[in-house]
Amino acid sequence: MRTQVGIIGAGPAGLMLSHLLARYDIDSVVLEARSREYVEARVRAGVLEQGTVDLLDETGVGKRMHDEGLVHEGIELRFDRASHRIPFPELTGGRSIMLYGQQEVVKDLIAARLAAGGDVRFDVSDVRIDKFDSAEPVLSFQEGHSSNRVELHCDFVAGCDGFHGVSRESIPRSEFTEYHREYPFGWLGILAAVAPSADEVTYTYTDRGFALMSLRSPQISRLYLQVDPDDDIANWPDRRIWDELHTRLAIDSEWSLTEGPVLEKGITAMRSFVLEPLRYGRLFLAGDAAHIVPPTGAKGMNLAISDVAVLADAVAHWYDTGSSTGLDDYSTTALRRVWRAQHFSWWMTSMLHRFPDDDPYQRQLQLSQLHYTVASQAASASLAENYVGLLRG
Ligand code: APR
Ligand code: PHB
Repeated sequence: MRTQVGIIGAGPAGLMLSHLLARYDIDSVVLEARSREYVEARVRAGVLEQGTVDLLDETGVGKRMHDEGLVHEGIELRFDRASHRIPFPELTGGRSIMLYGQQEVVKDLIAARLAAGGDVRFDVSDVRIDKFDSAEPVLSFQEGHSSNRVELHCDFVAGCDGFHGVSRESIPRSEFTEYHREYPFGWLGILAAVAPSADEVTYTYTDRGFALMSLRSPQISRLYLQVDPDDDIANWPDRRIWDELHTRLAIDSEWSLTEGPVLEKGITAMRSFVLEPLRYGRLFLAGDAAHIVPPTGAKGMNLAISDVAVLADAVAHWYDTGSSTGLDDYSTTALRRVWRAQHFSWWMTSMLHRFPDDDPYQRQLQLSQLHYTVASQAASASLAENYVGLLRG
């Protein structure tokens, strides 16, 4: 079997890449280890930067997002039992964000690829990448219950298979540099069938740790609590989760948190990670396969999409002109944005969480930073422009 671009992983990165390439009439095959049902149901974050919204729109996959997503023109920061708003449009030249779950983006992209006759294969196993340092890399894999290996010859391979994928592992250790930061906490997230108690995404710093209120629709709330990264979700019956949310989110003015049935819950560890470079011969890494941010800046999906936007243009330029300049620049161009998001996500995380070894001095620094961020126009604008996403280029 042959294709132009072999793509491993049907998350936002792999699906969007296949979609963008198709718009340039470039063939691709997407190989996904999980089932379609599984990837469409996987609950992840849900904040789209303006640039991500624009790209989904421009490429014809924005309709349901506009019907069902929620445009938000700011966020709230809570600390010292008071709430402060950071308004986005007036600080960023009219830009805002869209709340729309990552799995909804995934559903829309799968539907678009299949409607256009795209080749997306779910439930494949044991994907291997060979000869990516040659002009014709080969992907091989097993399909369904068959024990035969299928070979897929490609011009290029895109490793879009997330943090636990096979792409990164296929690269010799001597070829790359890794940058890491582990955080001594995780997030316990719940999806609840209740109208959101806050109008906007609300980040809260308290003595007992961080809490976040977000939403998916006028009927569905998404809430998070900072917890020990090794904590077991079995230690958190719904009653304990709501009690802790009430305590951390409390403010002195009139406000209350409304409870509802918990539809889903889980604990996620937090880390920062970057692998450099993003290119190894004809293998290109994109999204979580190459970099992870803690969710505090809501950047994960946006980075995955911006990586593949750069990559699709570079690949198209190569087919068009035979010039490899775009491909040669891919890693540097994508990493510039990645490192900005790394810094922003690390900064938000450091400002808003309790660290096990922090001391009163450290806590005063966090509070001072929070006060400055909401009081200074320059500091608010800096948060706002990073949150809505820096313009490309
Ligand atoms: N073979 C085939 N598919 C694989 C393999 C493999 N060996 N390993 C992983 N996959 C698939 C996963 O099942 C998943 O569907 O690759 C896909 C990777 O998708 P994501 O993890 O969603 O990564 P990405 O597309 O880069 O999107 C990044 O996802 O984790 C969130 O916060 C992150 O929002 C960010 C976004
Ligand atoms: C979410 O809605 O899931 C969400 C919002 C903001 C974040 C992280 C997650 O920073």
